[in-house]
Amino acid sequence: AAAVRYEAESALISQGTVASNHPGFTGSGFVDYDNTPGGFVEFTVTAAGPGDASLGLRFANGTAADRPLDITVNGAAVAAGLPFGPTGGWSSWQTRTLTAALEQGANTVRVSAPGALGGPNLDSLTVGGGAVATDWSA
Ligand code: GCU
Repeated sequence: AAAVRYEAESALISQGTVASNHPGFTGSGFVDYDNTPGGFVEFTVTAAGPGDASLGLRFANGTAADRPLDITVNGAAVAAGLPFGPTGGWSSWQTRTLTAALEQGANTVRVSAPGALGGPNLDSLTVGGGAVATDWSA
């Protein structure tokens, strides 16, 4: 099945704001995490069956320091302190991909920022690959 992109600005956002002041994003903007620990972006993604999926997080980090993120799927930790390092500017976007097991149907993928300065700017989550058909029309 084709990969499906979920825009961060359409997700559930806590301690972050939707912004569009740095170009190169998809959709209508991106999420700018507050510069404080504990913010998150929670995506609801649909899988056609249980199995591994690739989760691609598109981000920008215009600072010189890491902006780590924690990833949970359906409340269970998948990655903690995953590094999201400098991308060379706030308009330079990169994608970091991890693999996680999804259940059939709706899944919550929460991307939390544990660091003192919050997360990188987050553009989207692309779900694809693996054994999972990520859209019902596939
Ligand atoms: C700058 C930048 C924001 C970014 C912020 C940060 O203000 O314009 O897009 O989110 O730095 O450090 O998180």
